[in-house]
Amino acid sequence: MTQSITLRRPDDWHLHLRDGAMLQGVLPETTRHFARAIIMPNLVPPVVTGAQAAAYRDRILAARPAGSGFEPLMTLYLTEGTDAADVAAAAASGLVKAVKLYPAGATTNSHSGVKDFAKVQGVLEKMAEIGLPLCLHGEVTDPSVDIFDREAVFIDTVLDPLRRRIPGLRVVMEHITTEEGVAYARAAGPDLAATITTHHLIINRNHILAGGIKPHYYCLPVAKREKHRLALRAAATSGEARFMLGTDSAPHVDALKEHACGCAGCFTATNTMPLLAHVFEEDGALDRLEAFSSLNGPAFYRLPVNETTITLVKHELPQTFPEKILTEAGPVTVFNPGFAVHWHVEA
Ligand code: NCD
Ligand code: ZN
Repeated sequence: MTQSITLRRPDDWHLHLRDGAMLQGVLPETTRHFARAIIMPNLVPPVVTGAQAAAYRDRILAARPAGSGFEPLMTLYLTEGTDAADVAAAAASGLVKAVKLYPAGATTNSHSGVKDFAKVQGVLEKMAEIGLPLCLHGEVTDPSVDIFDREAVFIDTVLDPLRRRIPGLRVVMEHITTEEGVAYARAAGPDLAATITTHHLIINRNHILAGGIKPHYYCLPVAKREKHRLALRAAATSGEARFMLGTDSAPHVDALKEHACGCAGCFTATNTMPLLAHVFEEDGALDRLEAFSSLNGPAFYRLPVNETTITLVKHELPQTFPEKILTEAGPVTVFNPGFAVHWHVEA
């Protein structure tokens, strides 16, 4: 018997769309299944002001495939020079749904990020007052901290003190990768949520490093030990309101992934929903997939849930995905989970 499950149409609460030819090439991969996405602002130059976010939103809308009602939910890139009044105006108009904080140097295009948190105190206080969420890339950048410890150290030395300094600030821990991240999110109140990516539910650090280096599994925060992957699986499949899907689908052309200094990012927009169906079924939690992909995010962001649905069907035969998306900027390799996937989103 064919198995199938119908869900409210999912949203992606952490997505990189880039710009220009790359945007044009990858956007249909997201709009095929997702109704909305929180759009990361780490362009070159970054999306810092409300005016820049409005212009970027227009470029995304113009790149949508014909007939798509996909809604980009815009974010601003927090810098030490960000103007609190501009942020408040962009939020009040409905244009901007969150502000993104990258510790300077933490990841792709993060050099304009925050070094001195005292310099952004005023903006963060304003955000707490108006209820605008802060999306956090939660890794310290201190070169003396081991890359596999950077998330846990960030929680203790940056995130927790920040939340104590600014009570009421609504925070999204983006792409958590550790059991420490899961535990911190679980212990917090309703003003904190966490996104979890598709790939961190599937790979651990062995997938990147054992048997030859696999650049297409390299992303930031880097995948950790197996016990952390299992903690993320338990969190995502729990149905708990604080955990929501943020794919962090982050396209880079193959030439920059397969490189002496390869870029960080896994591209999962194409096959995230079938992969999640596989993962949730494996964990006996298919009935909680909708909470993770379609309900918990809107609840945290105080947005309505989507009225339309998608149906996932499990087929006898393994389903195929394109190996690469051919954009005008160059080919982008689609995340390969390394196992057969029988789930497919019905057209
Ligand atoms: C992201 C990118 O390429 O923009 N890369 C990644 O590995 N996730 C940046 C980020 O979210 O850290
Ligand atoms: Zn990201």
